[in-house]
Amino acid sequence: MEHLKIVGGRPLVGSVGVSGAKNAAVAIIPAALLSRGVCVIDNLPDIEDAVSLVDALEKMGARCERTGSGALMIDASGLSEYRANFDSVRRIRASYYLIGALLGRFRQAEVALPGGCNFGSRPIDQHIKGFEALGATVGIEHGMVIARADRLRGAHIYLDMASVGATINIMMAAVLAEGRTVIENAAKEPHIVDTANFLNILGADVKGAGTDTIRVSGVERLGGGEYTIIPDQIEAGTYMIAAAITGGDITVGNVIPKHMESVTAKLRETGAFVHEGDDTLIVRGARPIHAASVKTMYYPGFPTDLQPQMVALLTLGQGASYVTETVFENRYQYVNEMKRLGCDITVDGRMAVVNGVPRLTGAHVTATDLRAGAALVVAALAAEGETFISNVKYIDRGYENMVGKLRALGADISRAATADE
Ligand code: EPZ
Repeated sequence: MEHLKIVGGRPLVGSVGVSGAKNAAVAIIPAALLSRGVCVIDNLPDIEDAVSLVDALEKMGARCERTGSGALMIDASGLSEYRANFDSVRRIRASYYLIGALLGRFRQAEVALPGGCNFGSRPIDQHIKGFEALGATVGIEHGMVIARADRLRGAHIYLDMASVGATINIMMAAVLAEGRTVIENAAKEPHIVDTANFLNILGADVKGAGTDTIRVSGVERLGGGEYTIIPDQIEAGTYMIAAAITGGDITVGNVIPKHMESVTAKLRETGAFVHEGDDTLIVRGARPIHAASVKTMYYPGFPTDLQPQMVALLTLGQGASYVTETVFENRYQYVNEMKRLGCDITVDGRMAVVNGVPRLTGAHVTATDLRAGAALVVAALAAEGETFISNVKYIDRGYENMVGKLRALGADISRAATADE
């Protein structure tokens, strides 16, 4: 086990580059299984979730190698295995994308039920609804999702909620189906557009990604292709909020400002200065930090994956802030750990009331999931004294080289093995 040690109180200053988007990478890597050619994927983030998925693909017989430039080459042309029941699969939530990709390629899939962050039940009923509409029978046996179809035929699917995972998974199962598929009430996140663009590079016919109606015309086969993953909007937002809470002055590079608009607007409400460049954002923290109300929404609303980090900022706001989490039913489990730093937060169902306090003080805290870990880092950077954050493995799932990037911005942060209690 490892922990982070952070000595807070230092404004972040300098430049930070954003890595490839985790939630695009964990969809595009499985999507390569649909290809009978060679895929070369660039700007992959060096994070545990991507490593786990590459491990799963290799165990299924795909050839995965790094090119000289660091891109990932995936050759699944010779693949015949449609089962994925490895530790690397059970560990992460995004393993559910293997179901859609394998079902699309082989008309059958046997994949371990997904693991991942533990806030709320996180069912996959909408994914299954889509697969069944396409003609598959889907069951769960011995912790495995078993999907089979004699034929996959296009269907008109209306999602009960704009599920990111279901939108992408159904899109992957539909690209090689016979005929047209329409996905209504689709999610519109940037990583959905990224996955659709990748599939189209391989020869798929996906239209409307980024809108609430996606149209897929099935094709016979997908070839190879090269693709570069978009920058990670959640990583970028995490560093923007870290600059705001520490009263820093940073330039976030290799970012798509359009993807950050809801975060930029909310940070400005709290008093921070944000300047949008072509592919950069300059963020300067302000004092006092103003209270603000936040409601998480599907894209282009304020991202649920930045809710914990935003709450960390608001704990130092002047007055009361009201946060409503509309996407997940229970995404405040980090609050108890945050309170160890001196925050004043009251949670009631999907609402959190954050009463600003004059200061935070360092403490020993535990990350309960990926973004909770990121929020504790953000708070620790502003807390007086030393903070020790355990369960760093959660942070490694979604942030490439967070310690290195924060140290380059002047943070006093280090990583060490945790002596066994
Ligand atoms: C994706 O999760 C992301 N994960 C999450 O990021 C992100 O928080 C979420 O989208 C929302 O943006 C990946 O992309 C790997 P959903 P996903 O399906 O697909 C309910 C991170 O930190 N739902 O949009 O699981 C579900 O319970 C992670 O990077 C069903 O009820 O999210 C939730 O309440 C955390 N049935 C809501 O919909 C279903 O079949 C949104 O879930 C699917 C979802």
